Amino acid sequence: MKFMGAVNIVVVTLLGILVSDSHCKVVQFIFGDSLSDVGNNRYLSRSLAQANLPYYGIDFGNGLPNGRFTNGRTVADIMGDHYGLPRPPAFLDPSLTADVILENGVNYASGGGGILNETGSLFIQRLSLYKQIELFQGTQKLIKNQIGAEEAAKFFQGAKYVVALGSNDFINNYLMPVYSDSWNYNDKTYIDYMMETLGDQLKILHGSGARELIVFGLGPMGCIPLQRVLSTNGACQERANNLALSFNKAGSQLLQQLSSKLPNASFRFGDAYDVVNDVITNPSKYGFTNSDSPCCSLGRIRPALTCIPASTLCKDRSKYVFWDEYHPSDSANQLIANELIKKFGFLGNNQNAPAPAPEIAPSPEGK
Ligand SMILES: *[C@@H]1O[C@H](CO)[C@@H](O)[C@H](O)[C@H]1NC(C)=O
Ligand SMILES: *[C@@H]1O[C@H](CO)[C@@H](O)[C@H](O)[C@H]1NC(C)=O
Repeated sequence: MKFMGAVNIVVVTLLGILVSDSHCKVVQFIFGDSLSDVGNNRYLSRSLAQANLPYYGIDFGNGLPNGRFTNGRTVADIMGDHYGLPRPPAFLDPSLTADVILENGVNYASGGGGILNETGSLFIQRLSLYKQIELFQGTQKLIKNQIGAEEAAKFFQGAKYVVALGSNDFINNYLMPVYSDSWNYNDKTYIDYMMETLGDQLKILHGSGARELIVFGLGPMGCIPLQRVLSTNGACQERANNLALSFNKAGSQLLQQLSSKLPNASFRFGDAYDVVNDVITNPSKYGFTNSDSPCCSLGRIRPALTCIPASTLCKDRSKYVFWDEYHPSDSANQLIANELIKKFGFLGNNQNAPAPAPEIAPSPEGK
């Protein structure tokens, strides 16, 4: 009896090791721009796209700037929390190790980055999507060295992928006459060019093991405060909004195509254009009081370009759709995330139970 018990324990222990070895944690790899950046640009010392100064991060954790270009959480933060996934650290965070990656995944998102390499060059330094993919492939080598090729392949195939770029390709490229893309393309050929590039990039990710991947579409970017100040009456820029709609339509078709063509791929596209457009038109319907100007602003100086310590904050940050000239507030991000969760539904073969509430979920209070 005693002997059998000992054998049992040995067998159980062996199985335990085998099971835990071949069951890597499900983590996320996030590719994006300032809407998803969680600190990469902090380490790009020459980048002009920075969220290093107060009051960025005021409603997140200890309230100090953390690299997010908003007062609280990003859309990807809120969605990941909902699906019970760990929040991936910034790739450029010096404390990132293979063990941290195996537990949490990685976030490569960089403020000013675009689908196209040339996008955002005015910011001097930023990680474009191709660069982010290169860094991801470097990450794969590191993990392979740590756990072996077979386990690494399972780890990367079991992970979730988020790709969320595109607005800079318009706002900080095509719609700015200083960029040659603005005169080399028209609306249709530019979106074709973006789709061809994005298609190639997503195929590389699939070739590197990505199986479950979601792409976020664009919101009504002609209504961000920065775009509104360009028109004399403060109205939304219809052209920018129409480009976002065309991008979303083409993106949705591209993802359907890729998903049916690439083996074992669940590649999906979702946008929150309609609901954001409705919030902007009818803010009170959603509990907002302002949908056309930034919560953080510098007196009457518009556009203020960034939020700085000399800025003043709106009374109630939870009632402003926009945090600064470009970026939605935490409460607007919550609304966008809710819409995307509704569209994407339950993410595939997710072993993690949905988390009941985000760990760091500050409810912005007026100050
Ligand atoms: C884009 O940049 C990457 C480096 O990050 C480079 O390998 C690639 O060739 C570039 N693509 C184009 C079309 O310029
Ligand atoms: C697709 O999934 C099947 C079943 O899990 C597997 O045998 C096959 O190798 C996978 N193919 C690719 C390209 O991932």
